[in-house]
Amino acid sequence: MKVLVIYYSQSGQLKSILDSICNPLINEPYIQVDYYAIKPINPHPFPWQSKSFFNVFPETVLEIPEDIEPCPPEILKKSYDLIILGYPIWYLSIALPILSFLKSDATKMLLKNKKVITVIGCRNMWTQAQDKLISHLKQISADWIGNIVLKDRHSNLISVVTIVDWMFSGIKRRKYGLLPLPGVSQNDIKNCSKFGERILIHLKNNTWRNLQSDLLKLGAVETNFSLAKIESTASKIFNKWATIIHKTPSKRNLLLKIFKIYLQIVIFLLSPIFNFFYYLCGLVNPSYTKKTIKKYNGIY
Ligand SMILES: Cc1cc2nc3c(=O)[nH]c(=O)nc-3n(C[C@H](O)[C@H](O)[C@H](O)COP(=O)(O)O)c2cc1C
Repeated sequence: MKVLVIYYSQSGQLKSILDSICNPLINEPYIQVDYYAIKPINPHPFPWQSKSFFNVFPETVLEIPEDIEPCPPEILKKSYDLIILGYPIWYLSIALPILSFLKSDATKMLLKNKKVITVIGCRNMWTQAQDKLISHLKQISADWIGNIVLKDRHSNLISVVTIVDWMFSGIKRRKYGLLPLPGVSQNDIKNCSKFGERILIHLKNNTWRNLQSDLLKLGAVETNFSLAKIESTASKIFNKWATIIHKTPSKRNLLLKIFKIYLQIVIFLLSPIFNFFYYLCGLVNPSYTKKTIKKYNGIY
């Protein structure tokens, strides 16, 4: 049996998550696991600098692909039984290198009619990107069968501060010596092999129908209703910003600087208010809340 892991990971966090998930598969002698790392022709720097960090915003949100290195021919010529697609989230959207892969010619050859499990490694806002990813998979007739989301479990504001420190320093450290470590916890990463064990059972029996329900029982996805609603509103506003910035190349740098200030105001002043507002909305309309959570948990 052949499994292909397609991914993009800058710091290596998502790669460690995927390694942990794939461990039980790699240990089986009759399963061959290949990795395919997506590489942009012009690599994104890590750690980031403020200018480059905000410069990827318009194209990421508007899904304008960048050039990536071609898929190795030895991968293209194999037919895989299962594809595991690992992607980070950038600006509530699919990270640009993975988006570029999804729009490349190789994608159809690799993914058409194949079983695909998505794995997300992010801060805590991933639902809008997953909607987009599923629609890309539908367009290329891939058969999406499951999703696993690894996120930072700390509160929204704390994780913004710690992740930004990590992205700009390149080091996972306790900011101010007080705040928690950024990103997905080591413990969560280690525990990911339980998902791999479950995937292995389904792969062996070629019965995929209940995979996502089984993964959910192991805690593969925990949808936060308030954050999902904030994301839905924010992504519409992001789209407007991205369109204006992309259409005005002569003022790009200035507009990106204004967007940076806007983003800080929204995150630190408005998002706590919206978080509380959507929390109350969730209580008022429990059937809608349940439906939203069910959707993003992967049981459509
Ligand atoms: C430019 C940029 C934008 C990001 N935007 C989001 C976001 O909107 N939501 C989120 O949960 N995480 C966001 N993150 C965090 C990433 O999803 C991811 O957790 C982090 O980059 C580590 O991934 P890696 O494995 O590629 O190093 C962003 C990261 C970057 C670099």
